[in-house]
Amino acid sequence: MEIRRFKSGDEGALFQVFLSAVHDIASRDYTVEQIKAWAPADFPPELWASRMRELQPFVVEVDGDIAGYADIQTNGYIDHFFVSGAYPRQGVGTQLMNRIHEQAQLIGLNELTSDVSQTAQPFFSHHGFHVVEQRLLTKRGVTLQSGLMRKDLHHGT
Ligand SMILES: CC(C)(COP(=O)(O)OP(=O)(O)OC[C@H]1O[C@@H](n2cnc3c(N)ncnc32)[C@H](O)[C@@H]1OP(=O)(O)O)[C@@H](O)C(=O)NCCC(=O)NCCS
Repeated sequence: MEIRRFKSGDEGALFQVFLSAVHDIASRDYTVEQIKAWAPADFPPELWASRMRELQPFVVEVDGDIAGYADIQTNGYIDHFFVSGAYPRQGVGTQLMNRIHEQAQLIGLNELTSDVSQTAQPFFSHHGFHVVEQRLLTKRGVTLQSGLMRKDLHHGT
């Protein structure tokens, strides 16, 4: 397993990971209508590509195959965090989370935050986040339950 930064050309593979994470994993907690609104298979590729170039996520590869990706923004917000349904519970998410923590320390962040799906909340809790507020997000006109989660980062003195 290898972790690296996003590079140009990854966009299509990241879209497949996103689709798989939502349709194959998160689908256990959401309705078909919610899943389609969250991750439409016909999402415009150019729009997706420019979003990925903005986010500049970390990418995990397993035997040359992209298995997951996640970003951290300069304000500590994690926007995307997805692991492919082909690599569940194999530590890919943990690898991404550890890298995000390293980066947070490097840039001196005091907290991490994210709007986390029902599906990913146990994983984020496992990594020390807590739910600040359960809230509803609207994606393409459809409402999805989500939780704003936060983690305080204590840097050694
Ligand atoms: C949540 C997600 C990122 C976890 O990725 P992963 O690579 O499977 O996670 P890891 O293998 O590193 O899991 C580490 C630990 O987190 C916890 N964990 C992970 N998934 C869990 C789940 N579904 N339920 C309960 N605990 C979970 C476990 O303690 C796990 O350790 P264990 O497997 O030894 O029990 C992945 O399942 C995913 O992409 N889900 C769907 C998409 C999604 O909702 N993304 C987040 C949007 S905000």
